[in-house]
Amino acid sequence: MTTRVFILGLSVLAMSACSSNDTSNDPGAGGGASAPMLTAASADTKALWGDISDYAKWGQFPESTELTLSETHNNMFVISYVNDVVTKAVADGTVPLPDGAIIVKENYAKKDDPMPMALTVMSKMGKDWYWAQGTPDGQVFMGPDGPLEGKNVSMCVNCHGAATDNDSVLTHTFAGGGTAPAPMLTDASADTTALWGDISGYAKWGHFPESTELTQSKTHNNMFVISYINDVVAKAASDGTVPLPDGAIIVKENYAKKDDATPMALTVMSKMGQDWYWAQGTPDGKVFVGPDGPLEGKDVGMCVMCHGAATDNDSVLTHTF
Ligand code: HEC
Ligand code: HEC
Repeated sequence: MTTRVFILGLSVLAMSACSSNDTSNDPGAGGGASAPMLTAASADTKALWGDISDYAKWGQFPESTELTLSETHNNMFVISYVNDVVTKAVADGTVPLPDGAIIVKENYAKKDDPMPMALTVMSKMGKDWYWAQGTPDGQVFMGPDGPLEGKNVSMCVNCHGAATDNDSVLTHTFAGGGTAPAPMLTDASADTTALWGDISGYAKWGHFPESTELTQSKTHNNMFVISYINDVVAKAASDGTVPLPDGAIIVKENYAKKDDATPMALTVMSKMGQDWYWAQGTPDGKVFVGPDGPLEGKDVGMCVMCHGAATDNDSVLTHTF
């Protein structure tokens, strides 16, 4: 469970900063997104759009059989379609997925829209995923580093890479991928011990308007999450201040089951000077160990990997300042 723990609470859909002209609360887009920029597809992407032309007749992951509103994000509705190769891998619990596996996710701005705003596609070519984000008629979205197509689209990999044992797939956990060891815990550093002191009264803190009750992450396992914010964050939320000032603290509780008496993990962001200090620990102050060591400090790659998507929002995903 070591790595799986960190994607349990994930239910955000972040589109490219320029994939939406909706400036409401896209965590990836901040306040200033312009209209989506599109470009002509490469030959590989054109061929892929040919391969997926009948995707509407494909099967689905058991976790994604109808349009689901992404609770932590905009008002995007998403559903994924999987080809026969993926369907077989789901049944057999095969992971990594074999060559030829294709997953198409439709992304609708509104539930009643006749057409999705974007298709995001993962296609297994040899041992690698080919990533693409395009319109249904085959134009490709531009990201910050160029067209969103190819084997090395960092924007896609940033988030999907978190599913290390599950071949980058977030919606469904393949049985063969569930072999991760039990969570490893270690003693907290002095800084984290001090932080756990600072948050000892968090249960009496306020909330973001978007996180006032335990919410089940629909797109992932059965984790229930809720965030608590201290006075510094509450003031920043009401004043619209971003980046957040020194002293801001956000505590997210992560429950395995809704009725559990205590959360399985607390994930905490604490502003120290100009930087976030990240920590993932148990309520009684042990720290989880990630692939690169204890999950505590200013430079925890695993946390930054996802939160970094909120470039204009000081890495905060739940609420847009
Ligand atoms: C900010 C994180 C994030 C980024 C960036 C991102 N995705 Fe995803 N993606 C998700 C999450 C979370 C899901 C699970 C379903 C949902 O909530 O939309 C998902 C689901 C998918 C799926 C369905 C299969 C699966 O893994 O569950 C495809 C296909 C997909 N994304 C393709 C892409 C492509 C292509 C890109 C880059 C253009 C991309 N994604 C960028 C987070 C992200
Ligand atoms: C795979 C992506 C991902 C990773 C990795 C991740 N987070 Fe998050 N985090 C999210 C998402 C999405 C939210 C929004 C609420 C939710 O769905 O759980 C969130 C919310 C939070 C919040 C509430 C404030 C906010 O930004 O919304 C805190 C605090 C937090 N995460 C801390 C951490 C820490 C500490 C780590 C590293 C140990 C970490 N997160 C790793 C995706 C991630």
